Amino acid sequence: METTNNGKTALITGASSGIGRELTRLFAKDGYNLVLVGRDSDTLQMYGNNLQNQYGTQITLIQKDLANPQAPDEIYAETSGQGLHIDVLVNDAGFGEYGMFATETDLQKELGVVQVNAVALMHLTKLYLKDMVSRNEGKILMLGSEVSVSPNPMMAVYGATKAFIKSFSEAIRNELNDTNITVTVLMPGATNTNFFKVAGATEVKGADPNKTADPAAVAKEGYDALMSGKDHVVAGWMNKARVAMAHILPDPLVAASARRDMTPKDQADQQQKQTLTMALVVGVAVLTGWWLVSRNRSAIVPEKIYGKARAKARSGQKAFLDKANQAGKSTKKALASISDTAQDAYDQAKSIIS
Ligand SMILES: NC(=O)c1ccc[n+]([C@@H]2O[C@H](COP(=O)([O-])OP(=O)(O)OC[C@H]3O[C@@H](n4cnc5c(N)ncnc54)[C@H](OP(=O)(O)O)[C@@H]3O)[C@@H](O)[C@H]2O)c1
Repeated sequence: METTNNGKTALITGASSGIGRELTRLFAKDGYNLVLVGRDSDTLQMYGNNLQNQYGTQITLIQKDLANPQAPDEIYAETSGQGLHIDVLVNDAGFGEYGMFATETDLQKELGVVQVNAVALMHLTKLYLKDMVSRNEGKILMLGSEVSVSPNPMMAVYGATKAFIKSFSEAIRNELNDTNITVTVLMPGATNTNFFKVAGATEVKGADPNKTADPAAVAKEGYDALMSGKDHVVAGWMNKARVAMAHILPDPLVAASARRDMTPKDQADQQQKQTLTMALVVGVAVLTGWWLVSRNRSAIVPEKIYGKARAKARSGQKAFLDKANQAGKSTKKALASISDTAQDAYDQAKSIIS
């Protein structure tokens, strides 16, 4: 199925896999020319050929490792050298590193996480945004995450880069208010891609393939938000609810909830069982206590004290009802007087006219 070329070009990092790969398909379907950026040239080549055959897409491949600080300048030089105007920039490439920051994770990998997820994203944006501003046209899609708005224990550095992306994107979006350029953040929750494998976190509760989102559905939500110029979109209803809660609850509570998702599944199941057992024990204890108190009230609470408390509660209740009655009567009176005044005014007006 060949599509009509729309004459526009989208540059997509992270195009070789997962959400980025699904995004390229959506752009190809809509007739965009594509610049695909990634490390694995064979995969990109094969994938580019498929898009070319299926949609007639014009493909440019750029093989780069975004962990290399020079990569953004080199990518920009290549697209400029080929005379390509980038109408849409998609900063999708990213990865995480799982483990306790203090004792388990690898510093070099974490420096790579910051470089790829945050620094390269900012650097590419700087380069291509200047051209967009001079043409007063363009769109940018940033891959944030549900954890852009919550701490992410066991992937602390990854979570911090995603918070950077959200803050950075909303800030430049504001600076671009008077232009035709939009910046959109796609915020997925756990999605069924290579992400957890690359991070070394396939065993965590949140990575359960039965519960993770379909990357095609996530990409579609992001693509639609980008095309309609939204500032951000949280992919999936459950994640929308979680992000809404993260805005309300204190950070330590949000971090504790995120930590549960980052706990190995067997441990998380064990913890859940323990919590349920504890809740059951507490529930039974409270019910038993209540039953005992109600049956042996006079033995536990002396009749004199109980009687006093009951009398106080009753007199409080009576005072409340009296006040409510009085308020009702006053309101009725006020309404009647308003109605009389209105009637007088009407009669007077009528007599003047006639
Ligand atoms: N999956 C999730 O649960 C989830 C949730 C929220 C946000 N996200 C975000 O979504 C984006 C895409 O991730 P995904 O889920 O689609 O994972 P994925 O399948 O692992 O895809 C990650 C992409 O990033 C590229 N990449 C990683 N390191 C790179 C580097 N040094 N240089 C160039 N490219 C590099 C990968 O290319 P290679 O093929 O060369 O490795 C791949 O194309 C990421 O920014 C991620 O943080 C994912």
